[in-house]
Amino acid sequence: MRAFLTALLALPAAFGGPLSFTLPGGPATGRFRIYFSTPSSDPDQAPMRENADEQSTNQVFAFDATVLSPDDVFTLNATHMGYPLGSISDLPPKTTFLVQAEFVPYEKVERVGLPPTYLPTSCVSASGMNGAYEKPDGTSYSETILWTAEDPALTINLVNVIPPSKPLSPGCAGLGDGVDSKYIKTLRIRSELLTSFYEGTEKTLEACVLLPEGFDEHPDARYPLVLAGGHYSPEFEPGGGFSETMPDCDPEVDGYSCVDSIYKKYLHGNWTDLSTASPFHEGRVIMATLNHPVPFFDDSYMVNSESMGPYGDAIVTEMIPAIEKQFRGIGEGWARGIMGGSTGGWESAAHMILYPDTYGYALAACPDSVTFTHHTSVDIYGQKNAFFYDSDFKRTPVPGYRDGYSGQLYPGYDVPYGGVVSTVQEMNLRELVLGENSLSCGQWDAWEAVFSPVDPDSGYPARIFDKKTGEIDKDVAEYWRENFDLAHILTRDWDTLGEKVKGKLHFAVGGSDSFYLTDAVYDFREQLRAALDGGEEEAGITFTFGAHDEGLGFQHCFRGYEYYGNEEESETGYRQPQPNSITRLTYVQDVVPRMVQQFIKNAEQVEGADVKSWRY
Ligand SMILES: *[C@@H]1O[C@H](CO)[C@@H](O)[C@H](O)[C@H]1NC(C)=O
Ligand SMILES: *[C@@H]1O[C@H](CO)[C@@H](O)[C@H](O)[C@H]1NC(C)=O
Repeated sequence: MRAFLTALLALPAAFGGPLSFTLPGGPATGRFRIYFSTPSSDPDQAPMRENADEQSTNQVFAFDATVLSPDDVFTLNATHMGYPLGSISDLPPKTTFLVQAEFVPYEKVERVGLPPTYLPTSCVSASGMNGAYEKPDGTSYSETILWTAEDPALTINLVNVIPPSKPLSPGCAGLGDGVDSKYIKTLRIRSELLTSFYEGTEKTLEACVLLPEGFDEHPDARYPLVLAGGHYSPEFEPGGGFSETMPDCDPEVDGYSCVDSIYKKYLHGNWTDLSTASPFHEGRVIMATLNHPVPFFDDSYMVNSESMGPYGDAIVTEMIPAIEKQFRGIGEGWARGIMGGSTGGWESAAHMILYPDTYGYALAACPDSVTFTHHTSVDIYGQKNAFFYDSDFKRTPVPGYRDGYSGQLYPGYDVPYGGVVSTVQEMNLRELVLGENSLSCGQWDAWEAVFSPVDPDSGYPARIFDKKTGEIDKDVAEYWRENFDLAHILTRDWDTLGEKVKGKLHFAVGGSDSFYLTDAVYDFREQLRAALDGGEEEAGITFTFGAHDEGLGFQHCFRGYEYYGNEEESETGYRQPQPNSITRLTYVQDVVPRMVQQFIKNAEQVEGADVKSWRY
């Protein structure tokens, strides 16, 4: 694979000759993105890969295009959007850059009652892992080219194409796509609801299912079902993975991936242990992670949305019953739980509140905005502008992202106490450049696609705020409030929801969440206090705000305390909370036993509930 460099006859612009692009693969519609980095660091580093992160400080320019033939040449000009610099004419002269271009394919999508619209073919790759946003199949990209903003014109050919990812997919069990193990099974169903929403385009839902130890030996047992919500992952990853083998690695040498693999084996050890030493000895359950990527994100947020379709109903009425039918689930709300962090945390709270009869326990860890009085750090209802705090003269930017730290000073973190690395404006301008009309596959765009109505003229999600100026649309904000503001919905509908949710919903969030998600959880509690005399206690909802012993708040994504150190020390207060880097690997051992206790309690209210067959 090589890049073709062709000199073009063109008038030199201020920054040098024009940069142009061709695409061998066409015809295609999509977006050219051109990434720039400085070659000071590692010259082999591809700017495109580096740009995957919201913290990226690389430059990107982009424009939409329809490519009809490989001879079509597309030239980057000063009117095309860029981030952080707004235009190519802002590039410093005589500077040398590493340049790499990619073309993200869009496809025409038909949805019931909406105008046909171009959307990304996907936001995920089946060869990618949990939270690792590999580029989707069919993305074209160029080699990395050294270019000086003085050079004559250059044409860059996007000769590389990301191949189909399925052959490379680890699959649910990590053994290859669709290859099951003794414990981990793949279940794929055709969704009638989603297929009809997408006007007949086949839509499948996938579950990675972990069966309990003793499943075959107890053919008459029926089990509770625990869903773990979260990002797309072809491999079963409920918050820590599951592996039958101990890896041959050394954490000191091989780093975190080794720790991750060791904990996978720990879960297997705990899961298959039938002694009372096992955290699961009080009850055995089926667990499932779900894959439901959408054209706007790696995950649908598990609700019915105008842009994405009826994912909430499809999961509750099609996917869950299919899992329970296939694997002997109890199939009743008292014996179902849902847990997750971040996106998965929001999904857990949302399902408990929007589908209260379906669940008997929910843990919402470090959840995305559970009320929009703080959508991260933006008050969607109260502020006029999402980018700057309201003020007559001052323009104080609203912070969007503070750097990761773990409350322990690991080397390698530039701002160990959580300094701001991106403002809300920066995060949104970057997304706008990566994809107009909420098509960046980025976080703010994804929220918009979940929570907003569809603009009936364009077919794209209605903007909650102007992506260039930050001005908030109050009509769209009202739609968000009535349909997806979880604290508002719970307090508004308390008379019908209260009894169903009481004792079953639990929140945990770090005191210094990296995306300021702490604030919405505080607000949720305040809204309960305002609506109910007894506040959260009357609601039977618990809140844990995570702080380290010395006061520093936990960052994203705190899921509740877990301590280490021996018992004797604990009495004297010396036990230390585990850092997020460990607790993110032990959701199952820590949360499932608590769920089981609640299931048993729930069963007291249910005539004939089976609290025997699955408890061995
Ligand atoms: C920039 O390119 C776009 C096509 O992407 C074209 O429509 C526009 O006229 C160009 N503008 C200038 C100033 O060349
Ligand atoms: C259970 O998990 C813990 C860590 O969470 C680990 O220390 C222990 O060795 C595991 N038990 C087995 C039997 O693997």
